[in-house]
Amino acid sequence: MSEKQDLTRREASKLAAAAATLSITGAPFVSKVKAANNTVQFGFIGVGSRGQYLLQHLKGIDNGACVAVCDVYEPSMRKGAEIIGTKPKMFKDYRELLADKSVDAVLIATPLYMHFPATRDALDAGKHVFCEKSLVFKPEEIHALRALSNSKPKQVLQVGLQRRYSKFYQTAKQMIDKGMLGTVTHIRGQWHRNTFAKDPWNKPLPKDRTDKEVNWRKYREFSGGLTAELASHQIDVADWMFGAQPEFVVGVGGTDYIKDGRDIFDNIQLIFKYPKGQKLHYTSITTNRHCPLFNAERTEFGECIMGTQGTIHITVGTDSEPALGMWYTEPPLPKTEAAGKSAAPATASPSLASTGKGGRALPILLEKDQVTNQESFIEREMKYARRWLYQKGVMVPEEDRNPVDIELESFFNDIKTAGRPKADLEVGLHDSAAVMLANRCMYEERKVLFSEIDNMGKPEPAKAGKKG
Ligand SMILES: NC(=O)c1ccc[n+]([C@@H]2O[C@H](COP(=O)([O-])OP(=O)(O)OC[C@H]3O[C@@H](n4cnc5c(N)ncnc54)[C@H](O)[C@@H]3O)[C@@H](O)[C@H]2O)c1
Repeated sequence: MSEKQDLTRREASKLAAAAATLSITGAPFVSKVKAANNTVQFGFIGVGSRGQYLLQHLKGIDNGACVAVCDVYEPSMRKGAEIIGTKPKMFKDYRELLADKSVDAVLIATPLYMHFPATRDALDAGKHVFCEKSLVFKPEEIHALRALSNSKPKQVLQVGLQRRYSKFYQTAKQMIDKGMLGTVTHIRGQWHRNTFAKDPWNKPLPKDRTDKEVNWRKYREFSGGLTAELASHQIDVADWMFGAQPEFVVGVGGTDYIKDGRDIFDNIQLIFKYPKGQKLHYTSITTNRHCPLFNAERTEFGECIMGTQGTIHITVGTDSEPALGMWYTEPPLPKTEAAGKSAAPATASPSLASTGKGGRALPILLEKDQVTNQESFIEREMKYARRWLYQKGVMVPEEDRNPVDIELESFFNDIKTAGRPKADLEVGLHDSAAVMLANRCMYEERKVLFSEIDNMGKPEPAKAGKKG
């Protein structure tokens, strides 16, 4: 018996044909810049776990050359120099690194509360800046960084939101813009961990360091908790896919299960409302890592993008797992009355409309798998064969490169070509504002309007009639 809820081959080829019309538009992907004089000399500030990860990746990027590293903790500074292997100058005070004329650009991966001072001082020293997410920590830093960066338009500022550099996410955005999901009304995002099994925020302490220095993420004085560290990536995805910023946020958080002295929440549930009524429904918990997306083949994190004509499950790749993007269709809409013909009955597709069964997932097709009719016969047959294997679930489409590599290479390329980063100042500031306002709504247990950020962190206007 044929499975009614499965797509027929005819339906599948219709959808595949629709997907084949997609192509990544806009700027072509960054081409490799090889010439030595096109190499950007950079310094790295903050060589902890993210810094070491980025330096590993930077080893494979040939349009940037590391000439200096800095960390307040000497073993981390030395470790950074060892990883990159270019015999960089070593500094414990980032201001000395910034004073070095051989440094054109800096990458910053310090704890969140140090992002703004380091970024501000680097811009003032004439450097281009790549700063990890979330870009800034306090409302006043949003206003100050916007003014400062806009006053230095020749200096590139990029934020480490690597999903913006993922071909999967770019393809999803194109599918949305071309109407392939109908009207996108809701996005669900989750990042769940089971910290009872392993708590990455309770790293062992070296004898010469305190918990606040090493595990700064646990404390509100240095950190925005789960919202800043995890949700920031996915709030940015929602802003990007909806093409808007939220109007307000409501939510509930609690420090309910992990009693280790942390004052950040160990679980957060947030709803962001966007201008056309769209909602981002977000959850991050630390007591269970199950992820119901992708047939539960992956754990922890992903997004579900829901439209009136389809759904996308999507997540970014890691060093050991590929990015995933699955596309599900909704029942076809009834035909509307046109040219004197009557509308088709609403049960046009009874197998999908009435049984509650879902449709089979189709993989999102990346540019390399899309048939353009520019390819040779063999290349085209190979593409069809690959797509058939994707549809059967035998193979999954994979990004050629980790988006982290693309974001790093792109940063150096934008410096050389006066390009604008995909994750630029405004992307970073909107994302940071969303993090701050979401935390505020949970701390103060109230609905918080996004317009509140305009006056937050600014001096109180002088009271009328007040003297002196
Ligand atoms: N984009 C991503 O996916 C991603 C992933 C992980 C972390 N991050 C971000 O990277 C940043 C760093 O995270 P981490 O896990 O590496 O933290 P970490 O604590 O492991 O590393 C921070 C490092 O900065 C150093 N440091 C602190 N103050 C400094 C200063 N004034 N000057 C120079 N060095 C200083 C610390 O000694 C430490 O080595 C955070 O903002 C985090 O959100 C981003």
